Amino acid sequence: MTQDPGSSQQVVVRLDGVHKEYGDAKALDGMSLEIRAGDAVAVMGPSGCGKSTLLNMVAGLDRPTSGAVEVHGQDLGKLNETGLALFRRRHIGMIFQFFNLIDDLPALDNVALAAQLTGISARQARRRALELLDELGIADRKDTYPAALSGGERQRVAVARALMNRPALLLADEPTGALDSRSGEQVMDLLIDLNQIGQTLLIVTHDPHLATRCASRLIEVADGRVARESALEPSA
Ligand SMILES: Nc1ncnc2c1ncn2[C@@H]1O[C@H](COP(=O)(O)OP(=O)(O)O)[C@@H](O)[C@H]1O
Ligand SMILES: [Mg+2]
Repeated sequence: MTQDPGSSQQVVVRLDGVHKEYGDAKALDGMSLEIRAGDAVAVMGPSGCGKSTLLNMVAGLDRPTSGAVEVHGQDLGKLNETGLALFRRRHIGMIFQFFNLIDDLPALDNVALAAQLTGISARQARRRALELLDELGIADRKDTYPAALSGGERQRVAVARALMNRPALLLADEPTGALDSRSGEQVMDLLIDLNQIGQTLLIVTHDPHLATRCASRLIEVADGRVARESALEPSA
């Protein structure tokens, strides 16, 4: 793991001159950034500026056209597809605007499933899933299917699923975008609590309120590059 002489915090994410092209479209155009352990970073910018592409690169869901992506000390370019999938499962948690839960499974199984192929038993997985649902205040919804959960409950199940494997990094792509303001606030509070106990966060949002409440740093993206970076004051 590389460290700056000036900082004792580990670098969790480093992008160095990352370009991503889809045909003629430049989704990322030389993006460089660094995120350290314990950071809560908000990413903002207009629709189509490359925010989701950035998260996909960091999660190893897609590969850059050129440039390097390093996460948790691993150069993702050196991993093959299987290696990337394993890396993602072990070190990355992701939450999305539309939750991406499995409709045919109750809440508990949606969460426990994330531990599949990480080597823990089904029984241990269910126990940890229940602990997480309990910590997130929705243990009483463990047997409920996604269709019968509220939006806020669905997102909390998705957060529990993302935390299942104790990821070094939690990525969130517009996590409150599909929620009413009250449920959005609750998910926001949850993210703040997680960061306060040390979880590193990278959150894409359109919502300046979410950015200033949750994040310690703001990265503004325009045309596939970092246009501006600023420190945010912690809010009460
Ligand atoms: N899989 C893809 N195929 C083709 N073009 C894509 C793909 N993903 C993203 N793009 C394009 O790349 C640009 C950035 O997209 P995206 O990262 O989704 O932006 P944002 O999340 O900021 O709205 C857009 O112009 C989009 O149309
Ligand atoms: Mg997007």
